[in-house]
Amino acid sequence: LDNGLVRTPPMGWLSWERFRCNTDCKNDPDNCISEKLYKTMADLLVSEGYKDVGYEYINIDDCWMAKERDSQGKLVPDPERFPSGIKALADYMHSKGLKLGIYEDFGSKTCGGFPGSEFYMMSDANTFAEWNVDMLKFDGCYSDPKQMEAGFKAMGQFLNNTGHPMVYSCEWPLYQIGDKIKPDYGAIRETCNLWRNFGDVQDSWTSILSIIDFYGKDDGNFSSYNGPGGWNDPDMLVAGDFGLSYEEEKTQFVMWSMWSSPLFMSNDLRKISNHTKQLLQHKGILAINQDPLGAQAVRQWQISSVGLWLKPLAKNGSYAVAIVNRDDQGMPHKISVQVNQLGLSGPAYNFTEVFDNKFYGHYKSSDQFTVEINPLGAFLAIATPTDS
Ligand code: GLA
Repeated sequence: LDNGLVRTPPMGWLSWERFRCNTDCKNDPDNCISEKLYKTMADLLVSEGYKDVGYEYINIDDCWMAKERDSQGKLVPDPERFPSGIKALADYMHSKGLKLGIYEDFGSKTCGGFPGSEFYMMSDANTFAEWNVDMLKFDGCYSDPKQMEAGFKAMGQFLNNTGHPMVYSCEWPLYQIGDKIKPDYGAIRETCNLWRNFGDVQDSWTSILSIIDFYGKDDGNFSSYNGPGGWNDPDMLVAGDFGLSYEEEKTQFVMWSMWSSPLFMSNDLRKISNHTKQLLQHKGILAINQDPLGAQAVRQWQISSVGLWLKPLAKNGSYAVAIVNRDDQGMPHKISVQVNQLGLSGPAYNFTEVFDNKFYGHYKSSDQFTVEINPLGAFLAIATPTDS
């Protein structure tokens, strides 16, 4: 969507994967969906250095509302969990140099059963603008996927009409694919700033692998629609949660960066190990994610457990190269291929390994390139062309 926003992939924090629809503030006051939770995460985004490296949005997901609209039909946040209201929460974020995102649904109800935007889209768009919200995630439960193209376009128009800039995140293609409708990625890119086209990420390696496979298949060539202002969204980063090993966290982060994906962490920033925090703030990997070209890495090949991905970078002729080792046998896997088998067509390249930011070697196209990758881990390098 050409609204001047998210010219590089948006970065921030989103509550859903980790905090779900926990509305029980009486028994679980520190983890329930409430203004307190979002303020706490905002404070940590700033104090723990995430903001300094680019994480900017704090996004509310489902279950923030009261069960009913007010007598005028306006959305109301749950009065006990959001006593100060959403506008005050947006002001809080802005005072810290952050932005606030919110969640609604195109259908009659949100997935969690709260009031949906059906028949209220214009008024809800105006409400979000009046609250100074910076981003809307628009879900698709309790609606007809056949209506989504028209409906999501209409909501986009209503958001635009408010004159208040809001990033527009759509789940439209995900529901259409689920309904066996081929998504019109051209129309989606024109309408939305980011869009989900695959199922919800969960806190497991199986879930991460299923997303990597979907992006590897690249059905309908959806990778080609990725770029400044419009991003395929493979869903949240779960690094720092319960399900992934450190190698698996690395692989998720590497792939999300290779794809120029939105980087929304869904984790508990109060309880995160130092090495995971360093990973999520790794400047070299983030620079690949935020590369101004905004290209989405495409899988060049997958041979047994090894997958090779290439992402063209803005700097002329350079590529980010990722090799993922899905082999779970307990020792590093040695991979050796000719440089031209990496999909690089120039005569020679300098390789810099990204994790340690170390010169890896100078290789001619016919040279043998060898790496060792830990089980379920990834190798990440930048290849810069040289004349010979
Ligand atoms: C759907 C979305 C998720 C999340 C939940 C909330 O499943 O895909 O990302 O927003 O709804 O109920």
